[in-house]
Amino acid sequence: VSAATRLRVELAERSYDIVVGNGLLARAGAEIAALGGREPVIVTDANLARTEHLARLEAGLAAAALRPRRIVLPAGEATKSAAQLEGLLDQLLELGVERGTTVVAFGGGVIGDLAGFAAAILLRGVPYVQVPTSLLAQVDSAVGGKTGINARQGKNLIGAFHQPRLVLADTDVLATLPPRELRAGYAEVVKYGLIDQPQFFAWLEDHGAALLAGDAAAQQHAIVTSCTAKAAIVAADERESDRRALLNLGHTFAHAYEALAGYGEALLHGEAVALGMLQAFALSARLGLCPPADLARLRAHLAAVGLPTEPCAIRPGGFETAAMLAAMGRDKKVAAGRMRFVLVRGIGAAFVSDQVPAEALRDVLDHRTD
Ligand SMILES: NC(=O)c1ccc[n+]([C@@H]2O[C@H](COP(=O)([O-])OP(=O)(O)OC[C@H]3O[C@@H](n4cnc5c(N)ncnc54)[C@H](O)[C@@H]3O)[C@@H](O)[C@H]2O)c1
Ligand SMILES: [Zn+2]
Repeated sequence: VSAATRLRVELAERSYDIVVGNGLLARAGAEIAALGGREPVIVTDANLARTEHLARLEAGLAAAALRPRRIVLPAGEATKSAAQLEGLLDQLLELGVERGTTVVAFGGGVIGDLAGFAAAILLRGVPYVQVPTSLLAQVDSAVGGKTGINARQGKNLIGAFHQPRLVLADTDVLATLPPRELRAGYAEVVKYGLIDQPQFFAWLEDHGAALLAGDAAAQQHAIVTSCTAKAAIVAADERESDRRALLNLGHTFAHAYEALAGYGEALLHGEAVALGMLQAFALSARLGLCPPADLARLRAHLAAVGLPTEPCAIRPGGFETAAMLAAMGRDKKVAAGRMRFVLVRGIGAAFVSDQVPAEALRDVLDHRTD
């Protein structure tokens, strides 16, 4: 066990710690006991329940004289539904949850978003802890307090801001994460480099392969760097009026790819983000804002780690421009009918713009980027 890193998300009375390291599940008891309540409820999914991690977490809690209960839900995006939320609330109430009972969200972003939302609305709000188990959740979804479920009309349309009381990111759990999920989460790590940390992007070019091969020190460094960046942005702009929008780099495109691909195995969120970040760079290059060499450098790195770099790798012939434009127009980040894009002046120099000419966007979607 090497030294864990402790970060702080500064949000006045809603401030909390993010702890990143290995061996954290076994030591989770003291951390969670400090929040009060003796009978926390672990909410997890069936895949995690099959690993040794859940038993390790429960033993860790028991070691601090806590008596954890558990609720196991089906794995997968479909679990972020109103029906599953209702079932979860029912089970939590059946367990006799009180105002001081801590909900422990133990899983990827699906469990974090759903259990966090249940904690937000149960008894008008109970405390919850994020114990993220996917790389995506460790570097992104577990931090920041956005919780929610999907609606028939679109992803994440029902939800609440509810900050966790603590985030425990244990790199040990990543060993059982399917490699494709690990790579998808890695796309969000790359995003932080692209936003405002060119030196971190360069570090990823050197260490990304080791990180994906399971190097715990590289994983810890990348998770700490990512969480530090996200924590700073959330502290400056909790409810996404301004700076937090930078975290959407590549996401206007990504959400459209996901909508057209059907939110399933065909295209994972992080894979869509890889494609979307490339489109944001291509659009910025097309507008003369970004050197084409930076676009090429990003493409080379994503390809080197095995992330998709061409829409036609997902679907033969790629995605219809008209369908992409329609899907992008339906994204919830559209403000007053204008699409907002995160553009770049290069690697590590992102900014928000709502001044993208329709013709440039069309060209990029058509692949006529020169
Ligand atoms: N709240 C936010 O700010 C925010 C940000 C980004 C994404 N999200 C949401 O996060 C969700 C995606 O999260 P995700 O990619 O973690 O998906 P996920 O929760 O579905 O996890 C991916 C898969 O990996 C499995 N898994 C997770 N950890 C594992 C482990 N350690 N070992 C073995 N299997 C493991 C899961 O069971 C699942 O099958 C989306 O719903 C997205 O909308 C939320
Ligand atoms: Zn994302």
